[in-house]
Amino acid sequence: MGEVSADVVTLDLLIEARETVRCSPLGVINTPMIPWCQTTLPLNIDCNIHIKLENMQRTGSFKIRGVANQIGRQPKGGLFVTMSAGNYGKSFAYALKHFGSKGKVVMPETAPVSRSILIQSFGVEVERVPTSCLMNVVNRCIKEDNMTFLHSYDDLDLIAGHASLGLELLEAMPEPDVVVVCCGGGGLLAGVAAAIKLSGCNKTRIYGVEPEGACTMYKSYIEKKAVGMDTKSIASGLAPPFAGTLPFKLCQLYVEGIVLVSDEEIKEAVSILYSSGLVVEPSGSATIAAIFNSKIPELEGKNIVCILSGGNIGKDELTNFPN
Ligand SMILES: Cc1ncc(COP(=O)(O)O)c(C=O)c1O
Repeated sequence: MGEVSADVVTLDLLIEARETVRCSPLGVINTPMIPWCQTTLPLNIDCNIHIKLENMQRTGSFKIRGVANQIGRQPKGGLFVTMSAGNYGKSFAYALKHFGSKGKVVMPETAPVSRSILIQSFGVEVERVPTSCLMNVVNRCIKEDNMTFLHSYDDLDLIAGHASLGLELLEAMPEPDVVVVCCGGGGLLAGVAAAIKLSGCNKTRIYGVEPEGACTMYKSYIEKKAVGMDTKSIASGLAPPFAGTLPFKLCQLYVEGIVLVSDEEIKEAVSILYSSGLVVEPSGSATIAAIFNSKIPELEGKNIVCILSGGNIGKDELTNFPN
């Protein structure tokens, strides 16, 4: 996947992917986007923020958008392997079951056990391994079991499917000043940013938010190439060991900057969202943590979209957060 050029991502490609996502038998929905002022969330800046509720998306996260365009283009009845901390794995498993295909999810052993159980309930196998072994296990499945590898963030079809979120938010707010997106491997951020910029919103500033302990995209900007690190964060979806190569190329073109939040700030955001009636997992709450903690510059008086990318959090996990 590393050699795909950013030039292949055109507006026509993204519009076609959006049609595929919209017509997919997986039932991807057009998620609500609501003004902050219609919630009880606190805000100490004078600006117009809308929150895009991907926590209400089918399978509980935006990942189904990319999967609808990625797995939807694969032969039905195939044998697939992926690595995922949970949300991609859930959408992958949901899609494989729907299309009558089989597969395995290789998962970091740090991910919540409840996620493995859920994925297994779709008839898909799970192998839990240390984060540093993820790729070795995937390679074994490709070589020994003849499985086709589908990447959970560094994949053109997946990123093009995620871009449907960017095109959709522009229908509700045609020229946002600022868009804030969570970043793990960077597939979501790259897709949304490409969709917005290629649609002609040249002035929109798009920011990625990463945990301090898993800031691979931030480090990639410094090193000017996609890099990895030993990641550790409560937001397991934002903590893959590497930034994606194609996501990094697209982010370099279309993203203003990456800001960092601490795990404490993420936990507080999950808690405040929950108190306001919004069930959002740590990986989906990092954007709100960035807003609460003034990590995004110059928001005063601006039209802003903040994406809440997923809501898959168990009761057991929620009890670990402050009241
Ligand atoms: C809820 C949520 N938000 C954001 C991300 C980050 O997505 P990406 O790896 O495409 O950057 C993930 C990844 O699993 C996620 O589960």
